[in-house]
Amino acid sequence: DDKPTTATIHADRPGPVYDKRIFTQFAEHLGTGIYGGLWVGNDRSIPNSNGFRNDVIGALRNLAVPMIRWPGGCFADEYHWREGIGPKAKRPVKVNTNWGGVTEPNTVGTHEFFELLRQVGAEAYISGNVGNGSPQEMAEWVEYITAPAGTLAEERGRNGQKAPWSLPAFGIGNELWGCGGNMRAEYGADVTKRYATFLKVPAGKTMTRIASGANGADYNWTEVMMREAGKHLDALSLHYYTIPQGGWPPRADPVNFDETAWADTLAATWKMDELITGHAKVMDKYDPQKRVFLAVDEWGTWYAPDPGTNPGFLRQQNTLRDALVASVNLDIFAKHADRVRMSAIAQMVNVLQAMILTDGPKMVLTPTYHVFEMYKPWQDATVLPLDLTTPWYNKDKFVMPAVSGSAVRGKDGKVHVGLSNLDPNQSNTVTMKLAGLHVTTVSGRVLTAATINAYNSFDAAETVHPEPFSGARVSNDLLTVTLPPKSVVVLDLQ
Ligand code: AHR
Repeated sequence: DDKPTTATIHADRPGPVYDKRIFTQFAEHLGTGIYGGLWVGNDRSIPNSNGFRNDVIGALRNLAVPMIRWPGGCFADEYHWREGIGPKAKRPVKVNTNWGGVTEPNTVGTHEFFELLRQVGAEAYISGNVGNGSPQEMAEWVEYITAPAGTLAEERGRNGQKAPWSLPAFGIGNELWGCGGNMRAEYGADVTKRYATFLKVPAGKTMTRIASGANGADYNWTEVMMREAGKHLDALSLHYYTIPQGGWPPRADPVNFDETAWADTLAATWKMDELITGHAKVMDKYDPQKRVFLAVDEWGTWYAPDPGTNPGFLRQQNTLRDALVASVNLDIFAKHADRVRMSAIAQMVNVLQAMILTDGPKMVLTPTYHVFEMYKPWQDATVLPLDLTTPWYNKDKFVMPAVSGSAVRGKDGKVHVGLSNLDPNQSNTVTMKLAGLHVTTVSGRVLTAATINAYNSFDAAETVHPEPFSGARVSNDLLTVTLPPKSVVVLDLQ
């Protein structure tokens, strides 16, 4: 019951760099994504450093998270940065109108965010408020963060940070077509240009300006943005969520699902390839040099919330299915690395397709976390084109390639290959030619489980975790890999 796949790794014609910012994480003021999941403040029952929980920070450091996008999402277009600086006791308590109507204490603001970055070792991607904030408010936030001198820099100093911070990426609002202001593309493009005009960083510094991009297959949005505002931008975003069982609103059960829902989800995730191809084609028209990159800064699965949780908190369990969603997308980004130089899975902790789940003092790493960990060598590696001829996997009306993969030459000089078998019933033997490579040893790890809906709980945290893999052989420049059903395999070739 083995389906064969043939492949060639083209080390003889290396491709673009797999930008490490593709591993950006997204942390929104949503549910327990920040409060509880990252920030525990003075709660001494949960070990923390300057308010951030040590267990979660340690796990994120182990992922080498390069960049964090904050404070939203929809939250960003109602966020007023001045409310989150200065003495905590004086900060206004607001209502989080987007996410559950709970109170937002503004305890985590700009200074706390940069403390989080310092602890994780990540860089800043801040999304500004276009929705109900002014260009002046946005420009002053950038000045407050980056200016070496002046009144705002002095205020920053009085609040505890004398030296300017580094702000390598800035988002001009979020989902301007929706929660960011329900704008038409033409209006959104004009507004984006207006706000972008006033975003200035000190001489010698650079800041990537990222415009709010399309929702899924809205190619017109990309067309209008590129045509009208492209010259003022460094990147344009794209948001696409994997939502099985008929799309919006999300209704699929995160854990109790059958093979049809498995196939539905993975087929929906493959659509990312088609979407990037389509948006990139539009971008090519206005920017053939590929100066402006596509930032897929929200992606991942979106299911019905876990039973008993606040539906506005978007809390969902994460199974082996999510692990394959992650690996398939990371492979798709490799194929499009010439245009996609950033992505951010939604979201980092406790929200949607999370890396980490917490409950009070407890913490667990999800199957998605393990894929991100296994793919760490892809960060800033060189993509090696991978031609795959693979059979179809189908269940009911859902049809997709059975095997997904990508290959890179890492910064460590080694070649790393990721292969995922989406078929939950049949193994798949991949016979791979190594063009331009001489390999003598192969080692690797595999992520799989007994069932398609296996997950890690606080009580059984190791149900889905990477194990050493012994199913690969190399001889005469031919690599043979037998992928177990429903598995993600990462190989190191030397
Ligand atoms: O990630 C959750 C929400 O999804 C974000 O706030 C918004 O940008 C998107 O619609």
